[in-house]
Amino acid sequence: MVRGNGRSNGRGTPPPSGMLAELTHRCPLQCPYCSNPLELHKAADELDTATWLSVFDQAAAMGVLQVHLSGGEPTLREDLEELVAHLGERGVYANLITAGVTLDRARLERLAEAGLPHIQLSFQSTRPERADRIGNANNALAKKLETAKWARELGLAITLNAPIHRQNIDEIGAFFDLAVEIGAERIEVAHVQYYGWALKNRAALVPSAEETAHAQKVVDEARSRLKGILNIDCVVPDYYAKYPKPCMCGWGREFMAVTPTGLVLPCHAAQSIPTLTFDSVREKPLDEIWAEGAAFEAFRGTDWMSEPCKSCPRKEIDFGGCRCQAYALAGDAAAADPACSLSPHHAAMRALAAGESAAPPPDFVYRRIGLYPA
Ligand code: SF4
Ligand code: FES
Repeated sequence: MVRGNGRSNGRGTPPPSGMLAELTHRCPLQCPYCSNPLELHKAADELDTATWLSVFDQAAAMGVLQVHLSGGEPTLREDLEELVAHLGERGVYANLITAGVTLDRARLERLAEAGLPHIQLSFQSTRPERADRIGNANNALAKKLETAKWARELGLAITLNAPIHRQNIDEIGAFFDLAVEIGAERIEVAHVQYYGWALKNRAALVPSAEETAHAQKVVDEARSRLKGILNIDCVVPDYYAKYPKPCMCGWGREFMAVTPTGLVLPCHAAQSIPTLTFDSVREKPLDEIWAEGAAFEAFRGTDWMSEPCKSCPRKEIDFGGCRCQAYALAGDAAAADPACSLSPHHAAMRALAAGESAAPPPDFVYRRIGLYPA
């Protein structure tokens, strides 16, 4: 299906259905697996309100159906209500991805009045001390629970987001209980993916194969027990998988991200691949960047593949896996994702994960503006 007036690039690539709008890198939490790049931008570098409004106009005209307002912590943007209202006026579904520690009831009420239909609340842990240690925060869990309560009262739909790693994987069952308790419609059990900050902290985060297998059993059991009560999405931990996940549903196929400074990325972590160059919404129209941008064209389709992907029957299923992981572990973003058992790097990747998960976890390197590049 071709939506909106998105331009074709000669391959008939339809416009994206979803956009991640990273409004800011600022955040009161410092999670060691943050998906933001190592080099974080300050408030002064951020796009202004008028530019974001224009980006959303262009996205709506292209046919984007859903915008995820994210960060950092997007509620630190004082213009958030205006951005939410604008998306609603353009018929685009807005999802606020928040840590839930900065909102008070009045602000959430203003966002609901502006037309916000949904919030995605991330939880570091179901236990107060652990939640504070993982996020390097103070009293975070209680604040999140309060935010969830207000969201319910205001009629917002809630997704509980639970990033999973070796220091909370024993809580998967408790995360399901928490999701039901706060009235969430959906839970995303998101095993941490290892690039950027999570790659820096991999030894502190990667679980063992046994822990991972047990966690999957808990997820499967919850799926049948909570059918009709809670929708369960699970991002699989692919260090121990046979085949990789179709990361981003394929590069440049369905999704784009816009950074706080206006760069347009085919994947939120694409800046971890240093060979790519990115266009900015400050300089080019969004539909042109999507259709012709060098970063989007780099791994779109299957022509860029080499063996074993090139002749693999799964190449239209997983699109060779994750480009960011291929760069991080194989040193080549055009290689098969080492999560694939057919990759020559697969055995080394598994051995690395097995070794790190068996050793005592080192201290976290907390994400922080100005810490990298070092
Ligand atoms: Fe996917 Fe490539 Fe592995 Fe085939 S060889 S399963 S296309 S990553
Ligand atoms: Fe970038 Fe997978 S995280 S392609």
